[in-house]
Order: sequence, then C-alpha cells, then structure tokens
Amino acid sequence: MRILSGIQPTGSIHIGNYLGAIKQWIDFQEKNECIFFIADLHSLTIPYKPEELQKNIFEAAIAHLAVGIDPQKSVFFVQSHIKEHTELCWLLNTVCPVGELQRMTQYKEKAKQFKGNVNTGLLVYPVLQAADILLYKTQGVPVGKDQVQHIELARTIARKFNQKFGKVFPEPKALLPKLGAKIMALNNPKQKMSKSLGPQSYVSLFEDSKEIKKKVMSAVTDTGKVIKYDPKRKPGVSNLLTIYSLFSNKSIKELEKKFKDKGYAQLKKSLTQLLIDSLDPFRRKRKELLTREVFVKETLKLSAKRAQPIASSTISETRAKMGLV
Ligand code: TYM
Repeated sequence: MRILSGIQPTGSIHIGNYLGAIKQWIDFQEKNECIFFIADLHSLTIPYKPEELQKNIFEAAIAHLAVGIDPQKSVFFVQSHIKEHTELCWLLNTVCPVGELQRMTQYKEKAKQFKGNVNTGLLVYPVLQAADILLYKTQGVPVGKDQVQHIELARTIARKFNQKFGKVFPEPKALLPKLGAKIMALNNPKQKMSKSLGPQSYVSLFEDSKEIKKKVMSAVTDTGKVIKYDPKRKPGVSNLLTIYSLFSNKSIKELEKKFKDKGYAQLKKSLTQLLIDSLDPFRRKRKELLTREVFVKETLKLSAKRAQPIASSTISETRAKMGLV
C-alpha cells in the first residue's frame, strides 16, 4: 500500500503528534511504500516569522529522524521543494466547492483564533492537503482524528475530478491508531493536546525531565479516586492511561489493575518516569543529529529526488486530462 502523511514545522512536536501520527508512520514504513514530508507551505497560513522558518523545518526534520523515520525505508522531504504540490492544488481548486471548505472544522477554529488574519490560504488549506495526497496516488493516510475531515474532503475531490475528467486518482483512506487518535491536553482534558493551548497542555518530544515532571504532576484529573478508563466521565485520568499504555505497550486493562489501589499521584509519578525513560533516546539522537546538518539536509534533498518523478508523472496525466498541454 502507498502511505503518505505530513506534519507542519510549527515549533516543537508534542507527544500528541507522536502518538496520533508519527508512531504509526514508523510502523508502516516496515511493510509499505511510505512518503512523509514537512508541510512548510501549510504552515504559512498562520502568523509566522520568515527568519525562523528554515530553523523550524530543520528541527522538524531532525525530530522525525530522531524518533525513527528511516530515509532508507521512507521517502522524507520538504513539501515546498516539489513544485507540483502547489500546481496540483490550483488544478484541484477548480473542482472543490467553496462551501465544503467553509464547513471544515479546522478552518472555523483557525479563523476564530486568527480573527485579524483570515487569509485565503487558510480556507484553501485542505485543497493543498488533498493535492499532497493525490499527487502520489496515495491509498492510506495515517493521521490523528482531527485530520479525518480533511481526508474525507480529499476523497470527495478525487471523486469529483475522476467523474469530470476521467480516472486519475484513487480515493485515499484515513488510517487512525486504535488508541491515541486524539490525545487530550494535560491542562484541559476536554480539548485535544495542541500548541495553541499553551506549553502546559503538552509534553514535547525533547522536553527535559524537570519540565516533564512539572507538566505531568500538574495534569488536570477528575473527581473521585478510582483509576478507570472512562473518557466521557473521567477524561483526565483516561488520557493519562492512554499515554501510559502507548509508551509502555501495556493494555489499559493491565494498567487499571496495576494502579487499582493507588491514587492519581502514584499514576502521575509512574507516568513521569515512563516518559522520561521513553523520550531519553529521542533526546540523545536529536543531539547527535544537530551536529550533522549537512547529512540531514542532503537526506531531504535526495529524498525529494525520489519523490519528484512520481509528482511529475501525476501532474502530466492531470494536465492532459484537463486539456492543458
Ligand atoms: P499537524 O502538524 O497539525 O499535525 C500532525 C499530525 O499530528 C496529529 N495530531 C494529533 N494526534 C493525536 N492527538 C493530538 N492531540 C494531535 N494533535 C495533532 C494530526 O492529526 C496530524 O496527523 N494538515 C496536517 C498536515 C498535512 C498532511 C498532509 C497530513 C499537510 N498535508 C497530507 C496528511 C496528508 C496537520 O494538521 O498537521
């Protein structure tokens, strides 16, 4: 199966991104043809500092290599290095109804968050995402739950295009992890973990031990003392159990048993240690990669060269179907 996914270079990558998306990517790359990329063009749709963009792209690249994206097994590049993404976005704009874009939850949230800067890019964001996916005739897209609506739209766009111009694109499917598709914020377990909720909401992949301890120990929990997985009634403790389960490979049932007669403080203490131990190898690998800038940049360049022929071929096919020479 051809798998593709992307992530925006918008500062530190958190354990929500990792558990919802990247961890799956690492598993998929063993048995599938995988394409992963840093979605720098998408990140231009919210306020950013141009002088920091290249640093953030480099950091995102290092983060993925540090946690286990293997450029020998996967294609891993920077979106803007392949011009066909933007070209296909324009072509697909012509088949995507604007009403569909106005209905997108992420658009509505971002439009509210950045009231003074609702640019057209923010609205067209999901069409560029559809272009990313369809350019490589992708079948499976491993993402967190918040991205499912965008993948559904990519399916709609593919269907509309194929009906109008003849079949070019397969309809992609969103691939969600069984557990962890929506990791909740530590400081507000009713909302998803996200950078926009502030640093107390997340643990980043390279967070130091002191910060991990502070954030986990002050995570919002629920009334009552029983440690039970019940996302509706006990969102705080259920979120901690989910994170615990995914980093320890222990089932939720096992964890409920392990912490049965213990309080929240004990669960948090144990989770703190688990996170410190699990993230430590990532931190060490990142440190090493920071000194190998040339290698990292060459890796991205070489990978883009592997993606380019697929992108060129799909664009030629699309242009021909649409009557362009
Ligand atoms: P981004 O950078 O916002 O998110 C990257 C991935 O992390 C997942 N994610 C989460 N998963 C579980 N719990 C959370 N709290 C959480 N927060 C984020 C997201 O679902 C996502 O999978 N639009 C994409 C980037 C993109 C893309 C694509 C993805 C651009 N083109 C083509 C797939 C295919 C995004 O939101 O990235």
